[in-house]
Amino acid sequence: MPRKRKKLPKKRPAQKKPAGKSMAETADRHRLYQLAVQCVESEIDMVDDTYKEIRGRRAVHLREDFCGTANTGCEWVRRRDGNTATGVDLDEDVLDWGRRENLGKLSEAQRSRIELLRKDVREKGVAKPADITVAMNFSYMCFKTRDDLRGYFAAAHAGLADDGVFLIDAYGGSESWCDTREKTKCDGFTYLWEQCNFNPINGHINCHIHFRFPDGSKIRRAFSYEWRMWTLPEIREIMHEAGFAKTIVYWEGTDEETGEGNDIYEPSEAGEDDPSWIVYVAAVK
Ligand SMILES: C[S@@+](CC[C@H](N)C(=O)[O-])C[C@H]1O[C@@H](n2cnc3c(N)ncnc32)[C@H](O)[C@@H]1O
Repeated sequence: MPRKRKKLPKKRPAQKKPAGKSMAETADRHRLYQLAVQCVESEIDMVDDTYKEIRGRRAVHLREDFCGTANTGCEWVRRRDGNTATGVDLDEDVLDWGRRENLGKLSEAQRSRIELLRKDVREKGVAKPADITVAMNFSYMCFKTRDDLRGYFAAAHAGLADDGVFLIDAYGGSESWCDTREKTKCDGFTYLWEQCNFNPINGHINCHIHFRFPDGSKIRRAFSYEWRMWTLPEIREIMHEAGFAKTIVYWEGTDEETGEGNDIYEPSEAGEDDPSWIVYVAAVK
């Protein structure tokens, strides 16, 4: 996505190259996505701490909307015995990959505490009420009108327990609301984030993820998204229109030495004119 999340210092080779085939031909795009874009350990730290701060207790049941490979849900059930998770995604192929490669690596007890549903996230009544529902890596930006986004937020609201919390991420800044390319070196490959065809009149943008390998081979458009760039005030207003009582924006602090984000997110009503920012927004039922 626009900026790689901070990785924990864990080195995992992306893949080995069998003779005769290019690295791109033997690569697994879902594995590369997880390595390049996600850091589920720090994401679950944030989710767990945020719920505790808001509700004064630990969440038990997490719902992961747009779960893709369900990497986040798997980390949740690994985190504490008793934690349960539901992942929801429309795409059977990505769910199958997640079942095989992520759920398949859980212990039997952990696996018994996670279910994956092939459903539209806007469908109501499909899963047990969640303490916390997460929709990460900006996936809700596929909803391009206020009515569609409100419809999704209302479904998220309906899917929560009475004291539930809905947590999403958002990004923006002058370097984000435009066509752009951003390159990030990962272990064994390069991850490219491309935004193109930005239309400032309706906010629509096309985004692509490409991967490049040391042997010169590439996977172009490994993943593509058609999104609308939503502003934070719009997101918060629509969350309130969908029934949430309160919204909290978590703004990232700054590392004094590097001037970069320090991966510490605190509630704030006063952001800075940063050219590129990522925040979390909690919507409280
Ligand atoms: C950006 S990817 C997954 C992001 C993942 N949550 C993460 O944190 O990296 C978006 C996913 O949303 C799914 N998706 C798109 N529209 C959906 C919908 N209306 N209901 C359920 N899943 C949807 C796609 O199949 C895709 O797997």
